Amino acid sequence: MKKLTGPFTQILPLTGLPIRGALKDEQLHIIANGGVLIEDGLILAVDDFEKLRTNYPSVQIEEITGDHVLLPGFVDCHTHLCFAGSRAKDYAMRNSGKSYLEIAASGGGIWDSVTQTRLATETELSNLLAKRIARHLAEGVTTIEIKSGYGLSATEELKQLKAIHQAANKTHAHIVPTCLAAHIKPKDFDGEGNEYLKYLLNDLLPKIKQQGLAKRVDVFIEQSAFNTSDALFYLSRAKQMGFEATVHADQFTTGGSEVAVKARAASADHLEASGDYEIKLLANSDTVAVTLPGASLGLGMGYAPARKLLDAGACLAIASDWNPGSAPMGDLLMQASVMAAAEKLSTIEVFAGLTYRAAQALKLNDRGILTKGKLADMQDYPCNDYREILYHQGKLKPARVWTAENND
Ligand code: NIG
Ligand code: FE
Repeated sequence: MKKLTGPFTQILPLTGLPIRGALKDEQLHIIANGGVLIEDGLILAVDDFEKLRTNYPSVQIEEITGDHVLLPGFVDCHTHLCFAGSRAKDYAMRNSGKSYLEIAASGGGIWDSVTQTRLATETELSNLLAKRIARHLAEGVTTIEIKSGYGLSATEELKQLKAIHQAANKTHAHIVPTCLAAHIKPKDFDGEGNEYLKYLLNDLLPKIKQQGLAKRVDVFIEQSAFNTSDALFYLSRAKQMGFEATVHADQFTTGGSEVAVKARAASADHLEASGDYEIKLLANSDTVAVTLPGASLGLGMGYAPARKLLDAGACLAIASDWNPGSAPMGDLLMQASVMAAAEKLSTIEVFAGLTYRAAQALKLNDRGILTKGKLADMQDYPCNDYREILYHQGKLKPARVWTAENND
């Protein structure tokens, strides 16, 4: 059964744009009074609504009334949604000027979330996930990457990944799980960081592969987490096992993005500390540079050099990093809008970073633009001009959100 949805005041299909580098709003192709023809969750055509209605006279019509601007659904390529508990205490301490070490010494930090998440059952975690996924989906995020990383033992990481699968089966959003068992070395592991990574390679990754629980692994490269040589060894071995790689890189100190490029990782995420050397390296690689403005806002730090990365020719994606510690807000559009004002990003650079460029970070070629053959993942905003969307800095939310799973 074919369905024609529209008319939309404006459709921004985001087609025909380069995968990397700076973009100007003049490059934007806008279809006025457009419609989308859909069959079985896939797009058949995007064109003038009346033209499509004439050419396909017998299709079902989903009529849109009033002014609406249609965009591809957002792809959030970096989240840590699978957690229990709160770290409000950390946030308050940080805002009172307490240091990272003081917060950790008082029982806060990533380890606190590990403790709270280990206490939750798989079903409790999946219920918490379902609520967060539903909120993200209602806000236009149709593909959500979700990391484990608050389990930090083979059993607990498997529990997290299974909870992610449970939640994925109950939503129309597309869920992409990632194993972040290499988040920090757990306090209860008896051995060095490299030994913990070897334990993950021997005792966890084969099980994840066997049970089909994730196809991607992530590692946090930082002084408080894993060093560059251990991380490179881990990613190379994981890749040999068939996993795709991604890296928490250059958040406070550099080194991580270089490992990401050497390991031919799909993405290097954070990059707040990246300088000219790292920018050049990323721009000359196929590794997507993922900026996480939610972490900058949560920690009260500067943004990653998004403008410089785009001008150097990098593929720049924008993700929420939604997690209980550094990025508790989870409002991707608000974060992207606010960063755009500070970093001077054009509207189209922001939309590209939230859609087809973010899909590239997950190596997904079937979404992120509205054109024939792509997934019918889309969202419409109640306004008559696409510029209204960032102008409202995240307060203008989509009126409707469709994903391929319920769009036919
Ligand atoms: O991406 N940087 C490391 N990991 C997370 C924070 C996780 C946490 O604080 O719980 C991040 O910001
Ligand atoms: Fe993160």
